[in-house]
Amino acid sequence: SLQGYDHYMLKEIYEQPESLRNAMRGRLDEENATAVFGGLNLTPQQLRSVERIILTGCGTSWHSALVGEYLIEELARIPVSVEYASELRYRNPPIENNTLVFGLTQSGETADTLAALRETKRKGHRTLAICNVVGSSIAQAADGGVYLHAGPEIGVASTKAYTSQCSVLAMLALYFGRIRHLSYEAGTNIIADLMKAPGAVQEALACNEHVKTVAEKYQNATNILYLGRQLNFPTALEGALKLKEISYVHAEGYPAAEMKHGPIALVDETTPSVFIVPQGTTYDKVMANMEEVKARGGPIIAVASKDDPHIDAVADDVIHIPDVPSIIQPIVSVVPLQLLSYHIALLRGCDVDKPRNLAKSVTVE
Ligand code: F6R
Repeated sequence: SLQGYDHYMLKEIYEQPESLRNAMRGRLDEENATAVFGGLNLTPQQLRSVERIILTGCGTSWHSALVGEYLIEELARIPVSVEYASELRYRNPPIENNTLVFGLTQSGETADTLAALRETKRKGHRTLAICNVVGSSIAQAADGGVYLHAGPEIGVASTKAYTSQCSVLAMLALYFGRIRHLSYEAGTNIIADLMKAPGAVQEALACNEHVKTVAEKYQNATNILYLGRQLNFPTALEGALKLKEISYVHAEGYPAAEMKHGPIALVDETTPSVFIVPQGTTYDKVMANMEEVKARGGPIIAVASKDDPHIDAVADDVIHIPDVPSIIQPIVSVVPLQLLSYHIALLRGCDVDKPRNLAKSVTVE
């Protein structure tokens, strides 16, 4: 039931502090400064010998794979490639021995993701599922996996499953890091960072009323750019997808610096850009990219850390999020973008829970 919320999408956005707690429950082992997973069905030796990881999925799940790529390479130093399941299934890439293939899927029923896992499994590679629906086709087809425990996601636009995927991938990065080179101290710090996620998301949700006023201001835009770098690049893609699918407004997510190689030609007074620009290593670079857009007259909406002293001078509208460690930044910074798409869709009279032309699980290829 809706439990007092107007839509499932809003309810599910607000459930994220709880769904994140559920994703992490029992999986953070503070004594050994690592993560633990019950269902990988691989021995420590097999896991240690992994030399390469493929993350595959569709749509929002594919975006979480991009976050996973970044975190696993950073924390575990294992090369990762991210593949659209619909492409991977018909491509014939050389896959080395000791490659582990993860299928990412909320529903566990996505036809292309299922086929990509079956195809890699047929070739003798170990396949694991990161999945929300217990007993789903993909959960059954894989050799093992990790459940998200996000609870039922009813809104067609994926919200809480996405942040749970990001948290599971972060825990996997910690786990693989700790069976390799990551120190006890580093592992302890990462656990502390991960445990901040539910509270930080709770804090980020407080932006809802302000996001609504931002949505009112930009509701008639026909084109919106979403820009971010590094860990915030997948967030840009995800923000743009959320807007497209439920409000039918065209949006593009781009790495903030790449936009000068083409998309900047779209910028004018009627084309707003959403910059995801929290404190972090690329902050100054993204600010410079923002200036480029501003110089061309583009309205700027910034998702920025709450104590950012410079942002008001450049951005037209600022949505503040708590200042968080980078590992949980994707989880926190996507929240205002989920809300922005929700409010714009509502203002435009769209059915947010059941957008046109879309189904909750895509069981045809
Ligand atoms: C977007 C969305 C879709 C799904 C995609 C994969 O909000 O929901 O892009 O992410 O269809 O679905 P799953 O994760 O069930 O495999």
